[in-house]
Amino acid sequence: MSQLNAIETEGLTKRFGDLVAVDDIDLTAREGTVLGVLGPNGAGKTTMVRMLATLSEPTAGTGRVGGFDIVRDAARVRSLIGLTGQFAGVDELLTGEENLLFIGRLLGVSRRQSRERARELLAQFNLSDAADKAVKAYSGGMRRRLDLAASLVGRPRILFLDEPTTGLDPRARGELWDMVRGLVNDGTTVLLTTQYLEEADQLADDIVVIDHGKVIATGTPRQLKAKIGGQTLRMQPDDPDAVGQVRSLVAEGFPELDPVVENGTVTVGVNDDTVMPALASMLRTRGIPLSEFHLGLSSLDEVFLTLTGRRAEPEEPEAADATEEER
Ligand SMILES: Nc1ncnc2c1ncn2[C@@H]1O[C@H](COP(=O)(O)OP(=O)(O)O)[C@@H](O)[C@H]1O
Ligand SMILES: [Mg+2]
Repeated sequence: MSQLNAIETEGLTKRFGDLVAVDDIDLTAREGTVLGVLGPNGAGKTTMVRMLATLSEPTAGTGRVGGFDIVRDAARVRSLIGLTGQFAGVDELLTGEENLLFIGRLLGVSRRQSRERARELLAQFNLSDAADKAVKAYSGGMRRRLDLAASLVGRPRILFLDEPTTGLDPRARGELWDMVRGLVNDGTTVLLTTQYLEEADQLADDIVVIDHGKVIATGTPRQLKAKIGGQTLRMQPDDPDAVGQVRSLVAEGFPELDPVVENGTVTVGVNDDTVMPALASMLRTRGIPLSEFHLGLSSLDEVFLTLTGRRAEPEEPEAADATEEER
């Protein structure tokens, strides 16, 4: 175990009956950095986080958090971490402040210190005005901030954030990103799962892309974007039969790119501003009219399309027959 790795897994695996939800995953998060785990619904993100947070035992493989084994030293691991779930774990009927106080008391902190810590966190997360309101009256963004505050009561060195911004509007998302950056500046190590490439790009020092429980790509945001293109160019010819021509044209002009043909559209990841105008002029010269010619930020969907040649699939509901034994 390197001193510098806050989180490390080797061959980490979780089976639910026949389903391998987390399949032989190796990853590391360096101390004081953000590791982004990027994957679609059902990729195995929550299952992995639950194992690292000692809420569920691996079927095979090992994991270390803060240097401690997630199975043998589970209690030590728990003392180091904070966990924010995809579904907020705060009590709806209590006020924001009561929730934080309650957690402080659970952690064995004195009443006075719990109150001080609660007030400090409420202020840090812009919730002081709502401190005495029941959480059921909070907006989605306020709830996520409270959820994040709740995970910080014990001042964890290592924080797991499982899809912290799913369902938030862009403003609330941006606010949460700033808060995560602040924590990392103070030395916290964060493992963040997300379905959004942009979020991983904004926050992560390193990214692990997972699909069907397996790692399918790793790298810094720059390396990944260089590989897949930070933006996606979509070209749909008026004449669906011309799609092959469009594809060959891309291959001719830009042999380093890897165009994918799907539903009468050619999609290609690009990270160079000159590609779009060059292709526009090539298409015009060849006389291939397009009904769509669109350059957009790559979504996770497009990352997947580029990495795997297929789209990220929605979660398959039939996989839920096996049940997890809780500890
Ligand atoms: N307790 C469980 N019992 C059976 N299957 C499960 C259980 N938890 C998760 N799964 C399955 O494992 C896979 C990964 O799920 P999950 O880790 O929740 O993915 P993600 O968080 O990336 O959306 C899914 O196919 C899901 O249905
Ligand atoms: Mg999940």
